[in-house]
Amino acid sequence: VTRTLLLLPGDGIGPEAMAEVRKLIAVLNDTQSAGFTVQEGLVGGAAYDAHGQAISDEDMEKALAADAVLFGAVGGPKWDGVAYEVRPEAGLLRLRKEMELFANLRPAICYPALAASSSLKQEVVEGLDILIVRELTGGVYFGEPKEIIDLGNGQKRGIDTQVYDTFEIERISGVAFELARTRANKVCSMEKHNVMKSGVLWKEVVAATHKANYADVELTHMLADAGGMQLVRWPKQFDVIVTDNLFGDMLSDVAAMLTGSLGMLPSASLGAPDPMSGARKALYEPVHGSAPDIAGKGLANPIAMIASFAMCLRYSFNMVAEADRLEAAIAGVLDDGMRTADIMSDGMTQLSTAEMGDAITAK
Ligand code: NAI
Ligand code: MG
Repeated sequence: VTRTLLLLPGDGIGPEAMAEVRKLIAVLNDTQSAGFTVQEGLVGGAAYDAHGQAISDEDMEKALAADAVLFGAVGGPKWDGVAYEVRPEAGLLRLRKEMELFANLRPAICYPALAASSSLKQEVVEGLDILIVRELTGGVYFGEPKEIIDLGNGQKRGIDTQVYDTFEIERISGVAFELARTRANKVCSMEKHNVMKSGVLWKEVVAATHKANYADVELTHMLADAGGMQLVRWPKQFDVIVTDNLFGDMLSDVAAMLTGSLGMLPSASLGAPDPMSGARKALYEPVHGSAPDIAGKGLANPIAMIASFAMCLRYSFNMVAEADRLEAAIAGVLDDGMRTADIMSDGMTQLSTAEMGDAITAK
């Protein structure tokens, strides 16, 4: 087999976290003959410094051709003044847009070893394992009209438009149902059909998709505001949550806080399956940013990046056993009392970024 990975480490702690994933790729190639071919590219400030763009056309081509893209993080004070079109974030937005990554997967997992030190009640978070599936390319962030108009009487009007078409709701709910089948087989769809027409359609289309193709999966519906409350009150009632771009943005940040540090949270963004091969375009990245405050100090927690690579093994390469083992290794080093600074607590052993990567790789 050949499996092509494009690594886009980016800025700040991005390259430091990516270095730990390189160790895992090497081990998988050496011991499992995994056949990963690694390509390299520049994104964000690093790309801007090299050629004045947040991602070059050449690297964009590589991203479109790769089996999967691993993305570190972009941005930092160094590029605060650059033009809007070439700011570091523009590289990520271009990747999402051109790869048509419409499904954003944000797991919220609470590792057993960290449940006790959570700021939330231990019984609420212990054993938590939920997956939020957020629609990423539609809804109010992209709908037209989108503008500020001058009303002429000293008043202005800001307009954003929530738009969803049937096919967009069908494909995102399809992803959620498929994923649920590999987990606890439950989907909760969240919208606000009580006050939004797009919410009425959302609920209808999710129910129809369920009935047509996924009747074996348990489906419930919840108003998104009530969903936010339930996420905080008793998150373990959920398995997969599917929701739109705006609600998904907020609910996934709420869920993130159930799990501890930003340094622990992975994500995946998936496109539609290719009609011929069934393969999906996919990009995997930690939820955190480039953390300029700790960059270059060996303080970054590489677990978010490593767990993103585990998602890559699972979803892009169907390497389920390897993904399971990698996730077990993360839990294992935490059980052994290994911590990076961001998750350090009394009596534990503090490791650098590279030491944490080594510990997980060894496990
Ligand atoms: P951030 O996520 O970079 O950092 C927030 C806080 O969390 C910082 O105190 C940081 O030290 C800590 N932190 C983050 N990741 C960590 C890790 N792996 N280990 C230990 N501690 C960690 O968000 P912030 O500070 O708002 O943004 C910094 C830069 O990153 C900005 O330029 C921002 O635009 C960019 N950014 C990029 C993202 C991306 O590439 N997808 C996402 C979010 C922000
Ligand atoms: Mg957000």
